[in-house]
Amino acid sequence: MIKFTVISTKGGVGKTTLTANLGGLLADIGLRVLLIDADVQPSLSKYYPLSGSKPAAGLTEVIVRGEVSAECISATLYQNLDIIVSDDPEGNLPHWLLNRIDRGFRLRMALNSPAVIDSYDCVLIDTQGAVGPLQDAAALAADILVSPITPEILSAREFKDGTMELLERLEPSSALGATLGPMKAVIYRQDRTTDARIIAAGIREDFIKLKGRVSVLDTIVPHAKAYKEAATLRIPVHSHERKRDGPTPSAYTVMHALAWELIPSLEGALVDAVPRRGVLA
Ligand SMILES: Nc1ncnc2c1ncn2[C@@H]1O[C@H](COP(=O)(O)OP(=O)(O)OP(=O)(O)O)[C@@H](O)[C@H]1O
Ligand SMILES: [Mg+2]
Repeated sequence: MIKFTVISTKGGVGKTTLTANLGGLLADIGLRVLLIDADVQPSLSKYYPLSGSKPAAGLTEVIVRGEVSAECISATLYQNLDIIVSDDPEGNLPHWLLNRIDRGFRLRMALNSPAVIDSYDCVLIDTQGAVGPLQDAAALAADILVSPITPEILSAREFKDGTMELLERLEPSSALGATLGPMKAVIYRQDRTTDARIIAAGIREDFIKLKGRVSVLDTIVPHAKAYKEAATLRIPVHSHERKRDGPTPSAYTVMHALAWELIPSLEGALVDAVPRRGVLA
C-alpha cells in the first residue's frame, strides 16, 4: 500500500482537484483507492457521489479512536474508490488534536488498521491549505507528499518559504519514529503565458541548496477548463477529456503521466477505453 498526502501551505492551488482526479484514475486503472478528506471544508467529500446511505462516521471517529473501522468508510458510486469523509464543519478536530501529545501520529497510526491495510492499494489524503495540527497529522501519515504549485514567481517563493517551514516543523518527528516522506512538487495550472520550465528550474535549484528535500515532477498539469467541468459533472477528469486538439495535452494523458511518475510500477497501465457518463449529465 502506498500513501500520498496532497499538501500545500497555500490555499486554492488545486489540492482537492488533484487528489480527486488522481484517485479516480488510479481506481480506474484497477487499484483499490481510499480517499481521505482531512480538510474541515469538505470539498473532497462532495467531489464524487456516494453510493447508498452515508455511514455514521468519518474522519472524526478515525482520529479520535486512532483506528479506521469499516463504518468510517463510505463507498463512492465508482468501483475501487472509497472515501473517509470530513465530518467536522465546526472545526473541533484540530482543537481536539492540539491537546494530544500524539497528535502528529494519530492518523498514521489509524491507517495501520486492518480495514485499510487489507482492503486498499493506495491512500490519498487531501488537506486544508492552512497550517494546523490536522495538516501536520496528514503529512506525517504519508509515504510521499505531493504539492501542487502554480508556476508564478510569487507562488514559487511562497512555496519555498511555506514548505521549508513545514519540513522544519515536522522533520524532528523522525526522532519519534515517523519519518517525513519526500516531497514531490507538481507544476500545476500552468497557462500558456507562464514559462514553467524557468519556475521549475528555480524551485529545483532552491531545494537542492536546501539539501534536496523537494523534487519537481516532470509532469505538468495545465490550466484547462476540463478540470472544472469534470468537478461539476462529479467524474474523474481523465474520463471527461480523453482527447484534445492543440499543444496542451489532454487530461487523460496528463493524469496517466502523473500517476506513472508517482507510482513507477504502474508505467504503461491505462484505464479502460469506455468513457464515463457524468452523474449530473
Ligand atoms: N488544472 C486546472 N485548470 C483550471 N482550473 C483548475 C485546475 N485545477 C483546479 N482548478 C480549479 O481551481 C479552483 C481551486 O481548486 P481546488 O479546490 O482543487 O484547490 P484547493 O487547493 O483544494 O483549495 P483549498 O485550499 O480551498 O482547499 C477550483 O475552482 C478548481 O476547479
Ligand atoms: Mg481543497
